[in-house]
Amino acid sequence: MTRHFLRDDDLTPAEQHEVLELGMAFREERQFRQPLGGPRAVAFITDKPTLRTQLSFATGIAELGGFPMVVDGNLAQIGERESIADTTRVLDRQVAAIVWRTYGDDRIQEMASVSRVPVVNALTDGFHPCQILADLLTIAQHRGGVAALPGQALAYVGDAANNMANSYLLGGVTAGLHVRVAGPDGYLPDPTIVARAQEIAAETGGSVTVTTDPVEAVRGADAVATDTWVSMGAEAEAEERARPFVPYQLDAALLAEAKPDAVVLHCLPAYRGKEITADVIDGPQSVVFDEAENRLHAQKALLSWLLERP
Ligand code: NVA
Repeated sequence: MTRHFLRDDDLTPAEQHEVLELGMAFREERQFRQPLGGPRAVAFITDKPTLRTQLSFATGIAELGGFPMVVDGNLAQIGERESIADTTRVLDRQVAAIVWRTYGDDRIQEMASVSRVPVVNALTDGFHPCQILADLLTIAQHRGGVAALPGQALAYVGDAANNMANSYLLGGVTAGLHVRVAGPDGYLPDPTIVARAQEIAAETGGSVTVTTDPVEAVRGADAVATDTWVSMGAEAEAEERARPFVPYQLDAALLAEAKPDAVVLHCLPAYRGKEITADVIDGPQSVVFDEAENRLHAQKALLSWLLERP
């Protein structure tokens, strides 16, 4: 059966562990193989702005021996000019995998339901699972390797209802982390995501905390993350979002609540003076550019894993 990666919980804990170990191997250049050697094309389609995601997928696909076929979603107009199903049936005859950044999760779910090749979520309104693989790799890189992930505490502060929060919840507990998210009332995660994360946590030994208190989330954490207060597609809400998030800014005082050697994560782009202060993102605990680099290693690992499955 064709496997897809649309949400963080599409990988079991054991499978996520395999992918992360493979990502570490790619990081350390112990292993260089070309499962796409041929070359075979992988489509990268984006309906939203992108820098890191396009760069890391295109570079990674080329490094795996494949050809990155970058498609501008504005030209393809998937679901408008042509149905999602028909587009998918054209794509899956020509490419080894489809990587899609789009809006509604229903769109990528529809593609996956038709596609005979793996479909990978390169960010939707609901999830950003490839980013979380990179974040887990970054925590592993700085804090004892993949095997040391279970039991570590990851705090996320800010817009706790966005794609990053959902993915931290699902992907974090899959790795056995204690995931604590804090955001203002009205910007807390959907209860169905929290329930799913709790279910996975019961299996892995991780845990889930959802709170409106940023200090409760960050206290004693091993990693502290935040994200923009205004995600792509929510630009019209920028004004109404400006005030409620102010107490959740990741500044030096909030970071001081975490472990002294905690790492700071941000998926980027970052808005200094909004969700994070310049001294924190540019400070000694920040690993955000390792995190950006790890997109490459994590996604190479994921694509290899998906395409080399028997
Ligand atoms: N939550 C952000 C992540 C950007 C990589 C967004 O969806 O715009």
